[in-house]
Amino acid sequence: MERITLIATATMGVESIVAQELKDLGYNDIKTFNGRVEYGAELKDIPVSNIFLRCADRVYIKMGEFKATSFEELFEKTKELPWNEILPSNAEFPVSWISSVKSELFSKSDCQKIVKKAVVENLKGVYNHEYFPEDGALYRIKVQINNDVVIISIDTSGEPLHKRGYRNDNNDAPIKETLAAAMVKLSRWKGGERAFMDPMCGTGTIPIEAAMIARNIAPGANRRFAAEEWHIISEKSWLDARDLAYSKEDYSANCNIYASDIDEDVLELAKRNAATAGVDDCIKFEKKHILETEKPSEYGCLVTNPPYGERLLDSDSAERLYRQLGDICSMRLPKWSYYVITSNEKFQENFGKKANKNRKLYNGGLKCYYYQYYGEKPKNK
Ligand SMILES: C[S@@+](CC[C@H](N)C(=O)[O-])C[C@H]1O[C@@H](n2cnc3c(N)ncnc32)[C@H](O)[C@@H]1O
Repeated sequence: MERITLIATATMGVESIVAQELKDLGYNDIKTFNGRVEYGAELKDIPVSNIFLRCADRVYIKMGEFKATSFEELFEKTKELPWNEILPSNAEFPVSWISSVKSELFSKSDCQKIVKKAVVENLKGVYNHEYFPEDGALYRIKVQINNDVVIISIDTSGEPLHKRGYRNDNNDAPIKETLAAAMVKLSRWKGGERAFMDPMCGTGTIPIEAAMIARNIAPGANRRFAAEEWHIISEKSWLDARDLAYSKEDYSANCNIYASDIDEDVLELAKRNAATAGVDDCIKFEKKHILETEKPSEYGCLVTNPPYGERLLDSDSAERLYRQLGDICSMRLPKWSYYVITSNEKFQENFGKKANKNRKLYNGGLKCYYYQYYGEKPKNK
């Protein structure tokens, strides 16, 4: 199997950012769809994609795409796919995810059984076994059926990519690392002299992701992936991808990041997470109310994920907080850019200003908008 198609899945609204990440990694055969980006690759790109992509949820090998309106068709077309090129005879291959939307084949449990049976039949023909012990490496199969078109893929990531390994807390409302990275990317902040601030940083995800971007720290360099156990990808490919990641890290990069929160306990977690991520020395953490925000520099970029008035605060308190944030931004940070994600529909009204742009993003399944206010550019830059 020389050329393969990989699928990087992404939260709705983040697909184009993942596509840009892939372009930056040097891929060019890229197609963007709702919730996923497909790209032409080789097996050695599985380590690269898993280690370097900041905003994707998982990376899958696409096994095939076909139309099926009957169980027979699903069985025969699944059986024809080149399973033996990926799965060894001892592979563990659960059909872990099934979705069906607007399709004749809507019974997920039946589709799941049929796909499993078809893969077994394919392998029986190749390995001449009647029984597969499934005591080897894990190859989790995903089946998506949409308008009678079936896409079958195998997960290469294992734990989802937002699990970078620096956060092991169970705080109430941390944002996913992948979404936080996407928010920083959308703000176009890249580090350097320009200040960055999250005045409601919680466990620190947004400032930590910002610091990792500024220092070029690959998000997956220090964790393991399901495909590391696969015989078809050499250990060297993983070593090469990690070496490349480490060679690109720049701990001397200038980084001017301010993170604060009113909650002392959560701030302690944020500091611990930043230390685990290797970026605690470039984030200034402080316990304070947003009303105590000061201007660290004339120009900068504020990115935050405030309470939405759903889980953390009631909506009146959340809206009061947005008014305070709006006042602080216009009075103390008048030349800054502001980027705020919330599901609260009255955000702009309370913040006191219409955003230059907003973008629909999903945070943990909740429909949110990412309000983007463009600030001034430094005169001499
Ligand atoms: C949705 S959480 C942020 C989660 C964060 N992005 C993370 O990854 O953990 C909102 C945060 O706003 C903080 N907060 C609420 N009111 C505040 C205020 N008046 N001043 C500063 N922080 C406040 C809360 O303590 C909470 O940590």
